[in-house]
Amino acid sequence: MKRWAQSFNFNIVRCYATARKPATYDGGLLQDKDRIFQNLYNDYGEDLKNAQKRGDWYMTKDLIQKGPEWIIDNVKRSGLRGRGGAGFPSGLKWSFMPKKPPADGRPSYVIINADESEPGTCKDREIMRHEPHKLLEGTLLAGVAMRARAAYIYIRGEFYNEAVAVEKAIKEAYDAGLLGDNACGSGFRFDIIVHRGAGAYICGEETALIESLEGKSGKPRLKPPFPANVGLWGCPTTVTNVETVAVTPTILKRGPEWFASFGRKNNAGTKLYCISGHVNKQCTVEETMSVPLRVLLEKHCGGVRGGWDNLLAVIPGGSSVPLLPRNICDDVLMDFDALMDEGSALGTAGVIVMDKSTDIIKALARISMFYKNESCNQCTPCREGCGILATVMDRIWRGNAFGPEVDMIKDIADNVELRSICALGAAAAWPIQGLHKHFRQEMIQRIEDFSDLSYNLNKDALFENPSAFDWRRTPKSFSDLINPWDSQNSHRKPSKVNTHKHAGTYPHIPAYQQERKNIEK
Ligand SMILES: Cc1cc2nc3c(=O)[nH]c(=O)nc-3n(C[C@H](O)[C@H](O)[C@H](O)COP(=O)(O)O)c2cc1C
Ligand code: SF4
Repeated sequence: MKRWAQSFNFNIVRCYATARKPATYDGGLLQDKDRIFQNLYNDYGEDLKNAQKRGDWYMTKDLIQKGPEWIIDNVKRSGLRGRGGAGFPSGLKWSFMPKKPPADGRPSYVIINADESEPGTCKDREIMRHEPHKLLEGTLLAGVAMRARAAYIYIRGEFYNEAVAVEKAIKEAYDAGLLGDNACGSGFRFDIIVHRGAGAYICGEETALIESLEGKSGKPRLKPPFPANVGLWGCPTTVTNVETVAVTPTILKRGPEWFASFGRKNNAGTKLYCISGHVNKQCTVEETMSVPLRVLLEKHCGGVRGGWDNLLAVIPGGSSVPLLPRNICDDVLMDFDALMDEGSALGTAGVIVMDKSTDIIKALARISMFYKNESCNQCTPCREGCGILATVMDRIWRGNAFGPEVDMIKDIADNVELRSICALGAAAAWPIQGLHKHFRQEMIQRIEDFSDLSYNLNKDALFENPSAFDWRRTPKSFSDLINPWDSQNSHRKPSKVNTHKHAGTYPHIPAYQQERKNIEK
């Protein structure tokens, strides 16, 4: 029996050891000549004259005259996947738009999603500031491909400077005859209109964006019908990301094979990565898809602060995707499939680096609070669930939670993920699922540490009222566990130490140590 157990254990261990087979990519780093965004840092000027020197608006008339089918076929062959987060194949998505105008004469529209509110993401902002003509040329070509009458560029409310830059570029393009009744002299009539949002994260979700553009409050619609059938003002509409359309002109000019030569199969192209947090030099940089995360950080950001061994975790695709602990970061590739295989996602490629000085539980609690605040509150699982997740995470990072809540929060996250109208529910759930998967022990430890401290400091209170301490391990009812309206759980505080003033303090903090001595005296 013992021998069987031993061999069984051995097999399990071997199974775990061989389970993770990191993907590899030997395509090398992107060379300067292959960068689509040559003016990402505004070294050469963003105006029309300078943009034309870099190849913008070159041969655009010829590309328009090749027609919608040709454009869509080339985008499909390039392997371009949407850069807005979901990674849906762009050529396929554009092909869903009607080939002929509907019998009732409804026009088609393209909407450029420039809402960019995902924490950690700052790539569309750079395009609007420094490469607005690439965006406009790409929008025109996307409009041709989808037989659209006009495009709206929906810009996040806080992006005042970006809106000004895009407006200026639009004026230049109209004055030069590149847009309007006879765009680029092609005979195609196309207008581009800027619309500024009011700064709500949910308005980045495509149907909430459409609602907002129609003048209503930004609440996602149920799908179907999908926007390609019933979108803006009931007309066929496609919502697509800034970066997705901005790379299209270069794909059409240099050829789909050129674009497809970067990155692994099914993960083609170059990509803008935005790297923030504990690296020596935060930046937004264009690199090849499938670049190893470690190479990306060391080549473009001067490495992790304090060296690679000081790395704790990385959120690879904007705050909504599950984090990756250091051991996975060692060899993971930055593309859709590799990150999905590791239980995370490329998302917006907003890479948030956290070194060992990070209180990872506090960081994730802060992210949960963001999603709670940004929920449109339309559907119950998200409205209630995001509140509960944020509240419980707040208690856990302060060490002020019940032990069972560590697993319960994962259970709630799983339910929120699968039961909401739009993907904000999943966006709120994934970070917590990632934390639970990789840092569950730390969450438990946080509660344990605080609990022991509380016990030692309140021996007297314990003798006076022993039941005051039971609540930590044995919650009396479900509502004891989750009370989103009482983030400090103040009514349950059993002692003078476990008060709001002390919540969130730890034994290694000098002020706390002093206080502890005073109490013990
Ligand atoms: C809550 C939420 C916020 C989103 N925010 C953005 C955003 O700011 N920008 C964006 O391009 N896509 C955002 N998306 C994704 C869009 O709904 C849509 O999928 C995307 O704009 C499609 O563009 P693509 O096909 O070029 O990737 C968001 C989705 C959700 C659920
Ligand atoms: S999931 Fe959240 S943000 Fe999306 S519709 Fe429901 S309540 Fe609104």
